[in-house]
Amino acid sequence: MTQEKAKLELRGNVYEIPVIEGTEKEVGLDISQLRRQSGAVTLDYGFVNTASCASSITYLDGEEGILRHRGYPIEELAEKLNFVEVAYLLVNGTIPTAEEKEEWSTLLNRHSLIHEDMRHFFYYYPEQAHPMAILSAMVVSLSTFYPELSQHRPDEPEEHINKAAARLISKLRTIAAFSYKKSVGQPFVYPRHDLSYCANFLNMMFSSPIHPYEMKPEIIKAMNTLLILHADHEQNCSTSTVRLVGSARVNLYASVASGICALWGPLHGGANQMVIEMLENILRDGGNISKTIDKAKSKDSEFRLYGFGHRVYKSYDPRAKIIKKACKEVLQATGTQDPLLDVAMELEEAALQDDYFVERGLYPNVDFYSGIIYQAIGIPKEMFTVMFALGRLPGWIAQWKEAREDDNFKIQRPRQIYVGPTLCHVDDSLR
Ligand code: SDX
Repeated sequence: MTQEKAKLELRGNVYEIPVIEGTEKEVGLDISQLRRQSGAVTLDYGFVNTASCASSITYLDGEEGILRHRGYPIEELAEKLNFVEVAYLLVNGTIPTAEEKEEWSTLLNRHSLIHEDMRHFFYYYPEQAHPMAILSAMVVSLSTFYPELSQHRPDEPEEHINKAAARLISKLRTIAAFSYKKSVGQPFVYPRHDLSYCANFLNMMFSSPIHPYEMKPEIIKAMNTLLILHADHEQNCSTSTVRLVGSARVNLYASVASGICALWGPLHGGANQMVIEMLENILRDGGNISKTIDKAKSKDSEFRLYGFGHRVYKSYDPRAKIIKKACKEVLQATGTQDPLLDVAMELEEAALQDDYFVERGLYPNVDFYSGIIYQAIGIPKEMFTVMFALGRLPGWIAQWKEAREDDNFKIQRPRQIYVGPTLCHVDDSLR
């Protein structure tokens, strides 16, 4: 909080509004007393200009294309750490020492299995069940097997929360792989303690009793990079959902299950699946890029250029840059040529030369190239948003923890501006 005050003049009165400044000099107006002082509330569709909290987890600068977790640039984290270390950094606030990393990995391994009874849940979903529906249902079901957090105690011991965090990070990976195996009618492959987080996931996804999966270091590195790039992104739609649900003192599992549902949306994490379908349509349509560009610009259609644009980034999403580079490395490592990559690069080039996109600051976001890598690894497009959830989980947990430990903790309950009918009465003569 600074000593600075902003002044608001409203209907002949002047109200002083405290000014706050973040560690990166972001300026905010603290309107927590506004209604008490003036009777007025603020209206901000989509919370475009509204901060819901003060947070020390992730910093974004949309104009400069900066993304940092606990102060560390995303480029360094993606280059120098693996996903398990970044998950620890987000949840605990520091990069783990060798000893802390050993403890954390042991905890993740210890909690990598799901209760055998949960295996049966998979068999009762219809064949075409979307894995995001399964993921959310399985995560909220974990709270029935591990009730220790469901007492909603504000003073829940830290070690209970850290155990639940490790349990969730490890089990979500198992649930994701099992949902894929179920969708292809193959037997589940169990996690192994001798494999790293990403190698374990790839093994559970792609090995089978008759065909061991051939681990390639480049693919394991690409998987680590993708999960790190999705790990947190301050108050995006799904993270805000986790915080909002958590603000009612809901346990971690149920709060994360709600975040999974929000992430599923095609305007959010579901965009990575929409990008591939958009690129496939362009290819089927003879590679007609300008038709897609025109459709995306038209106000007559809901169609958007998926993987383009962002609420915060009005310049290149730093994550998209890293993923685009990794695309070429993975295609080389898997010896695959993917015509969709050529279409994607042509589409990017055409859009970035089009005034409509340039004037609105619309650039490729994290979802534009990620699907091409997932596809090259062998992950089907229905699983792309599941991969996003796997990466985002440590961020959701860190933000849920930070919210419940915040001295300003309050249940989230926005106000509204009522525009409906004024007072009226039932006309008995009409009854
Ligand atoms: C993610 O918040 C996060 O951090 C999210 C995320 C994370 O890590 O959690 O980064 C992950 O969700 C990335 C975004 C994935 N979604 C998509 O790729 C879907 C396509 N993108 C758009 O729907 C849109 O850009 C959003 C949803 C991402 C952002 O929407 P905003 O901030 O509400 O912007 P807007 O809709 O007000 O757009 C401003 C203008 C509008 O035109 P005008 O009314 O000014 O004429 O830009 C246009 C929009 O029509 N526009 C697009 C467009 N995105 C915005 N036009 C065509 N194609 C697009 N992709």
